[in-house]
Amino acid sequence: MSARKVLVLNGPNLGRLGTRQPEIYGAVTHTQLAEHLVETGRGLGLDVEVRQTDHEGEMIGWLHEAADLGAPVVLNAGAWTHYSYAVADAAALVTSYVEVHISNVHAREGFRAHSVLSAKAAGIIVGCGVGGYDLALAHIAATLG
Ligand code: DQA
Repeated sequence: MSARKVLVLNGPNLGRLGTRQPEIYGAVTHTQLAEHLVETGRGLGLDVEVRQTDHEGEMIGWLHEAADLGAPVVLNAGAWTHYSYAVADAAALVTSYVEVHISNVHAREGFRAHSVLSAKAAGIIVGCGVGGYDLALAHIAATLG
């Protein structure tokens, strides 16, 4: 049986991982994270593809693609999390998504505590660093695979 396709979709500014506020987001670059998650996926029997965009329309297109493929999504929408009803509407079309935030959004500025994505998420992982993505993939492998 071929491995189940899972898309890990990262939103704005996450391409700057490694140099962006490392005290909050850590030292791992997006390229390193992507390579690591493909490996994690392989170990879980998942075919993981990692993408990052700073463009909302592109993210919406990827969510439509995931919906058409029936592929579960690990979604870190960055700041769109807090206000983009367009991303939320597109995410609602996906079979299932796990919302991930590297930082503990509840321990930061007030605007980060609200997510327009959480109500329809299969699960939410915050504050576990980039390890949160591994947890999300493990959840997908265990429950949705
Ligand atoms: C983030 C938290 C958001 O508030 C922020 O805008 C990000 C990253 C996180 O992974 O902790 O870009 O989603």
